[in-house]
Amino acid sequence: MEKSRKKFADIIDKAMVTANAMNRDELLFSYKGILYPVTFCSPEVFRAMESLEVRSDDIILAGYPKSGTNWVGQILSDLVAIFEKKTQNKESSVNDEELEEFPYLEIGDTGKYERMNKLPSPRVIFTHLLPENLPKSIFKNKAKILLLIRNPKDVATSFYHFSNGMSPLPSYETWDDFFIAFMTKKMPWGCYFEYLSEWNKYADDENVMTITYEELKKNPVLGVENIAAFLGISLTEKELQSVVERSSFQSMKKNAQKTHGAFGNVLFRKEVTG
Ligand code: A3P
Repeated sequence: MEKSRKKFADIIDKAMVTANAMNRDELLFSYKGILYPVTFCSPEVFRAMESLEVRSDDIILAGYPKSGTNWVGQILSDLVAIFEKKTQNKESSVNDEELEEFPYLEIGDTGKYERMNKLPSPRVIFTHLLPENLPKSIFKNKAKILLLIRNPKDVATSFYHFSNGMSPLPSYETWDDFFIAFMTKKMPWGCYFEYLSEWNKYADDENVMTITYEELKKNPVLGVENIAAFLGISLTEKELQSVVERSSFQSMKKNAQKTHGAFGNVLFRKEVTG
């Protein structure tokens, strides 16, 4: 049932080719004090993003890079597909050949948000952004926000390997060089500790649910059940098992070439905690 997600793989493959021809110090740009990769984001796209009208039934997956966003994103897409099948009798988007848009909100072209305004509900939107850099309508319209967090040590380790495997991100010769950058706000999408502190201000809001990578890994059945309950989606035992199975590390790694292209080799690394 996996999506082919050609658009997803194409955008990443193109960014990798462009970045291969760039110098290390050209790879990032700063917008409102935060660094982003030039091959994925731009100030024009950030400005265009303000025009997105977020709806109360949109599902926002907020997570810092390397906290497991592709994993939880897979779970959310499957849950929404099950919901659509039940409520709209629609053959779910799980089987679609193609994603409508690149799922990360801040990655795309300036026309993306106008196109997104025409997509049917519920939309699943992933983002690595700080709350203050998101379209204001997310909070005004009380979209459902799933906040994903992961142990900072594992985020750092994952980010180190990811930076060294992904040409759009500056690579590091040593762990020490990386660690200094990680601790001194030099990372793309900003500092993880600031991210946690800013998002923590929203953690108790009724439309926000927090989940950790570690709890989901320890008990994926319970994790998926809790996410489904938060979204108001009822699941049969069979549907629950299928969502858990399809989002397992082994299943996602096996399908990575199809779902994530060359990026899959770098993304599905080890899935260890601690
Ligand atoms: P590691 O590099 O520690 O292995 P993101 O999707 O936010 O970029 O996060 C990537 C991290 O999530 C990687 O961690 C990756 O292996 C892990 N991951 C991806 N899919 C997973 C899954 N189905 N189960 C557990 N971890 C997963």
